[in-house]
Amino acid sequence: MKKILLFIIICLTFRATAQTDVKLTVQTANERVISKHIYGHFSEHLGRCIYDGFWVEENSTIPNKGRIRLDVVEALKKINIPNLRWPGGCFADEYHWRDGIGPRNERPKMVNTNWGGVTEDNSFGTHEFLELCDMLKCEPYVAGNVGSGTVEEMAKWVEYLNFDGVSPMATIRAQNGRKQPWKVTYWGVGNESWGCGGNMTPDYYTDLYKRYATYARDYPGSPLKRIASGANGDDYNWTETCMKKIGTGMWGLTLHYYTIPTGNWSAKGSATNFNEEQYFNTMKNCLRMEELITKHSAIMDKYDPKKKVALVVDEWGVWTDVEPGTNPGFLYQQNSLRDALIAGTTLNIFNNHSDRVKMANLAQTVNVLQALILTEKNKMILTPTYHVFDLYKVHQDAKYLPIKFSSPEYIVGNNKISALNISASQDSTGTIHISLVNLDPKNKISLTTDLDGLKWNTVSGQILTSAELTDVNTFSNPDKIHNTAFSGAKKSGNQLKINLPAQSIVVLTLK
Ligand code: AHR
Repeated sequence: MKKILLFIIICLTFRATAQTDVKLTVQTANERVISKHIYGHFSEHLGRCIYDGFWVEENSTIPNKGRIRLDVVEALKKINIPNLRWPGGCFADEYHWRDGIGPRNERPKMVNTNWGGVTEDNSFGTHEFLELCDMLKCEPYVAGNVGSGTVEEMAKWVEYLNFDGVSPMATIRAQNGRKQPWKVTYWGVGNESWGCGGNMTPDYYTDLYKRYATYARDYPGSPLKRIASGANGDDYNWTETCMKKIGTGMWGLTLHYYTIPTGNWSAKGSATNFNEEQYFNTMKNCLRMEELITKHSAIMDKYDPKKKVALVVDEWGVWTDVEPGTNPGFLYQQNSLRDALIAGTTLNIFNNHSDRVKMANLAQTVNVLQALILTEKNKMILTPTYHVFDLYKVHQDAKYLPIKFSSPEYIVGNNKISALNISASQDSTGTIHISLVNLDPKNKISLTTDLDGLKWNTVSGQILTSAELTDVNTFSNPDKIHNTAFSGAKKSGNQLKINLPAQSIVVLTLK
């Protein structure tokens, strides 16, 4: 009995030690910049993202400008949204842009076959999307239709958007109230062409890419950044084929990866009702992003060692079962502290791979999947995920600071994952920001940090955490989870000492 007790005490002591005293080294910056476009978002004609999310009924009492919701715009401006992807997703490959221009009462309706079979009235189209981007002060990222659209249709859309002069499309644009071109540059050539975008093979897609991309012209002042439809998760053959056949003939190549809590698409798991084991599995699936980016990047490096082609993770986030009682085709889900930990972790992964990952888009901004914002008539709430983007906005366009550390383990049963993930950057004023995520729901982590050659005198911080991983913000309690001041970091000589609480996301500011 005594021996068993001693064994338990040794194990517990070892576990406690393993959770503390992590040595972190933050190194000085090189020329590498964390592109602000890693912090991009995605708005699809899906469920209540556009309609009810961004766009309100005519004569709505919800404050709006030209039917665009002002509360949503203000919230997104606060986190410095850098770009917005539109109109899909799967919707993009069924969207015919000419149905969404001109007088709204004359626009043809269509069936949104991908998302609930609802009628799309096309009241939100090209002009409305670009007006939204103007209001958000963000760059538009338009996904063109390869699956069911023609080369001519895509070519004319680009002409309509970008040509400054006399041409058939520029004339129609002016008749519709817009004389100046918008100068859209981020241009998706199809979406998920291996699936809802046409069920193509990579060989067939790459041939089509070249054809569509050829006629999507660069007009003066608007060179397109053409983005090819890339791999689904670990489909490395797709990336290999695109790199071999298109190479640097594209600005970017996409990767789509969603965190499915159970790993099973037909029973994904609840957004709000999960135990620790289910949480652990979700985080394990989330951390797979690291492996996927590493392996896709290695393939890209073979064909493009100078890293000219961006890896664009333009769909990511947690995808759970829909909220009970909501339309299964609308993909509406709640957002918990767990989802904030997913966001913080994934953004750290992107920052640390910012030599190759130059753009990413969380799916999806409002009322769909891992949303930043949920709306209910005139009410709007900010989700825990929103607060992570608010914390991490300091990394946008900042210089990447390399870091070294060895993470403690978070163990559940016979399985383990890294408990800790971190990224760091230095902004143009010399201020250093370190974002740290502790995935372990029970153990805090103590860190001692060396900052080689970096000058700083003071440290302050902000933290996002809550009592339960399942905690959420609701319309009746909208502020349950929000960022607060963090006092667990201290300067001690030249070292920074941090006490990182369990299940938390912390961003430190060193000046
Ligand atoms: O984000 C929801 C859907 O997921 C997108 O429309 C599609 O591209 C992906 O399969």
